[in-house]
Amino acid sequence: RVKIAELYKNSEAFGTKTITVCGWVRSVRDSKTLGFIDLNDGSCFKGLQIVFEAEKVENFAEVAKYNVGAAICVKGELLLTPQAKQPFELHATEITLEGASTPDYPLQKKRHSVEYLRSIAHLRPRTNLFSAAFRVRSAAAYGIHKFFQEQGFVYAHTPLITASDCEGAGEMFRVTTLDPANPPRKEDGTVDFNEDFFQKPASLTVSGQLEAECMAMAFGQVYTFGPTFRAEKSYTQRHAAEFWMIEPEIAFAELEDVMELAEAMMKYVIRYVMDTCPQDLAFCNQFVDKGLLDRLQNVVDNDFARVTYTEAVEILKKHNDKFEYKVDWGTDLQTEHEKFLTEQIYKRPVFVTNYPAEIKAFYMRANEDDKTVAAVDLLVPGIGEIIGGSQREERLDVLETKMKKLGMNPEDYWWYLDLRRYGSTRHGGYGLGFERLIMYLTGIQNIRDVLPFPRTTGSAEF
Ligand code: 4AD
Ligand code: MG
Repeated sequence: RVKIAELYKNSEAFGTKTITVCGWVRSVRDSKTLGFIDLNDGSCFKGLQIVFEAEKVENFAEVAKYNVGAAICVKGELLLTPQAKQPFELHATEITLEGASTPDYPLQKKRHSVEYLRSIAHLRPRTNLFSAAFRVRSAAAYGIHKFFQEQGFVYAHTPLITASDCEGAGEMFRVTTLDPANPPRKEDGTVDFNEDFFQKPASLTVSGQLEAECMAMAFGQVYTFGPTFRAEKSYTQRHAAEFWMIEPEIAFAELEDVMELAEAMMKYVIRYVMDTCPQDLAFCNQFVDKGLLDRLQNVVDNDFARVTYTEAVEILKKHNDKFEYKVDWGTDLQTEHEKFLTEQIYKRPVFVTNYPAEIKAFYMRANEDDKTVAAVDLLVPGIGEIIGGSQREERLDVLETKMKKLGMNPEDYWWYLDLRRYGSTRHGGYGLGFERLIMYLTGIQNIRDVLPFPRTTGSAEF
């Protein structure tokens, strides 16, 4: 049994042998004695042309009536056809039906809208667009692991259920065994968490960073790669409630090192996917985003731009007439501003550094100016923010003061503060939004189309 991808890699090796290929019917055409099936098995972007003749397959009439979507296995001989459109075709001697399909199969051989395909998330991986997207997703995940493993990073698994809100944005999904409609209450009327499984409020994690810091203080260089959850009600093309994040964390390092790592990782994974998924990217380049391949090549070949938040605000203020939200020092950059900077000003990825402390999370290291923190976001054309990171506050007294100022209880984070008590060191890291990376690699505009089963406000059907 051979996968179609193997045929495309080395068709000569199978030229005279009898092979079996299993997959799903994309289309059937036939005349009285000769028929053709376009077969797809998901191993690669391209399909395989099956030729079946009344003389050679005994169930010819039955095969000619197979519906689109049927699962079949085909035994036959591979014929190399270098002159034809397809480099080879499989001449069937035996075709067996594993599972029939019906004439009203929801995926017919025509172009369906992505909106329609979103409503059949269980079937859409069988289409060209989604098979390309999800194969790229798989390759990119492997490429990321390869990058970090080759550099000796330790892959750290951080908890999905947690009591801490790393980003402090209050976007946590509660995890509880109590009946939300009727929780047990203490005498004063407040919820009695003693009867809850964890005996205190727990939530799904928004980031593995705080635990990754613990691991980095043991291993020096670590990374996480796992799901994160945010109850962000923003109904945008780039926010999901459940998304995957890659969070490297490095010790004895400053903001500059964090940026160097991010740039090297981005270039490595782009190169890796260009090398391993050329057919998928060529399809995206043709049907999703015409400039995709040139743009990716440019990213790999050139240095990323760098600008401080303060400089970026000066640039953006000159264009305030173009924005819905006007920019001024102290405001957070919105998607429209991020896109403007990276698409109109720099025309390539750009690191924005040293944001105002007020708009960033508690753990970021205070700069000398006392107004900004050593934060960095990486913005890319077409998307805006793809990475958010920082150097961390390693000074115990500074961090404690900051937490109190923000109304946090340092006792809740005693373990996090311990890292600053025992062998504290300069360190930092970042979070890469995996779905945003896949959008960037494929040109796909909506995060719902790079997640196999997207969870966004009002949608968790599948
Ligand atoms: O900028 P964020 O919130 O940073 C953190 O969570 C840090 N703790 C990371 C770190 O320093 N270790 O999120 C990081 C990235 C964003 O740049 C974005 O790409 C992605 O995660 N992201 C989302 N992706 C999809 N849907 C959402 N709702 C997202 N929120 C953030
Ligand atoms: Mg961010």
